[in-house]
Amino acid sequence: MPHLLFDRIDEPGLNTIPVYERRGGYSALRSALAMPPEAIIEEIKQSAIRGRGGAGFQMGQKASFLPKGEMAKYLVCNADESEPGTFKDRELMQKCPHALIEGIIITTYATGIHRAFIYIRGEYQLQADILDQAVAEARAAGLLGENILGSGHSLELVVHRGAGAYICGEETGLLDSLEGKRGNPRLKPPFPAIEGLYAGPTLVNNVETLSTVPTIINMGGAEYAKIGTQGSTGTKLISVSGDVQRPGNYEIELGTPSREIIYGLCGGPRDGRSVKMWFPGGSSSPVLLESDLDLAYDFDTLAKAGSMLGSGAIIVVDDSHSALEVMQKVVKFYAHESCGKCVPCREGTNWTLKMIERIEAGEATPMDLDILASAQSQIIGHCLCVLGDAMAMPVGSIVEKFRDELAEEIEAARERANSLTYATA
Ligand SMILES: Cc1cc2nc3c(=O)[nH]c(=O)nc-3n(C[C@H](O)[C@H](O)[C@H](O)COP(=O)(O)O)c2cc1C
Repeated sequence: MPHLLFDRIDEPGLNTIPVYERRGGYSALRSALAMPPEAIIEEIKQSAIRGRGGAGFQMGQKASFLPKGEMAKYLVCNADESEPGTFKDRELMQKCPHALIEGIIITTYATGIHRAFIYIRGEYQLQADILDQAVAEARAAGLLGENILGSGHSLELVVHRGAGAYICGEETGLLDSLEGKRGNPRLKPPFPAIEGLYAGPTLVNNVETLSTVPTIINMGGAEYAKIGTQGSTGTKLISVSGDVQRPGNYEIELGTPSREIIYGLCGGPRDGRSVKMWFPGGSSSPVLLESDLDLAYDFDTLAKAGSMLGSGAIIVVDDSHSALEVMQKVVKFYAHESCGKCVPCREGTNWTLKMIERIEAGEATPMDLDILASAQSQIIGHCLCVLGDAMAMPVGSIVEKFRDELAEEIEAARERANSLTYATA
């Protein structure tokens, strides 16, 4: 499998400019600064790279939505990485921060942006310190600041630490937080490319997306597009966690069979256990089953199968866990993280948690499963952002796919509660 971002990622000192440059680092920037800005956008468009943060929108297309000309425009790198199961950006920033900085400088040159921010989640203290050091080193080397490498392009890059809220990964919540407000999603449109940070046109991209830009410039967009599948080009960093023998971050070619990832790379579940369900794109993706393991791991195939690639976080659940337990873990997270701005999300996540607690307490009937499922459909598509959907999608899929097991669990819990009542009477 080709390694582009993770090529010799563990080399000591790769977080410093001398080692990064010895490996060819900042050569893409030098080539890019000799190209007209529009030609760089064209290369990114030709690469057809889709955003690596969750929504999978083509980066080249998004960058071309920004108005041309001199005005206060911004680039914001989304390093919030709060989706449960996702930890790939952490490794990239920690081990190879200059790939991100180089990607940011190239992208700002291509779009005429002179101010950029890396918004990093509050818990990533080590990675934020490493980024601060790397930014200072880049500035001292003339790669940031005024007239970068004599090109006439200037860029101020600031690393901004969040306070640890999932909603601040949603791009407009992130922008509010960056402006010093409480992180709440905004009504869209207008999208950030038209009206974003401080009401200026803003390009928001994920760490992995921006870190890939130097590779695209070095290879050429058309060459990059030959990797992966037609609709999902390139390689993807995936974070694999849960019940596998070798969890961790891996770089795969998009389109690799999911079985090859879960069993081949990650060793599958422990001996004697089998895959009960798996989340292909973080805890917000609808679950898939063992029978789906032969699906190609790419944006379109997973969407066709009723789920999504999301941030590329695969969470494997083996048959030692109950569907109810999995559902409860997911719901607790989203109920805690709902920002409370939209009623369907604020009320829906909390009511879903209460309904699950009712099941556990033996107070539910199988009919409650219909109510649980219908509550999810009242959330999906009814809020300013998809945080509520991020709970409703996996919950809806678990109720649908494990209905019999959940109905048995309801009966068993009722019997337990009844016997307890008789015993104490
Ligand atoms: C609730 C919520 C949380 C999100 N968290 C992240 C995140 O932590 N990192 C990220 O890159 N994108 C996250 N996203 C997606 C961003 O809104 C946005 O689509 C992304 O940063 C765009 O970058 P990309 O096009 O390079 O993927 C989140 C979206 C939602 C709705």
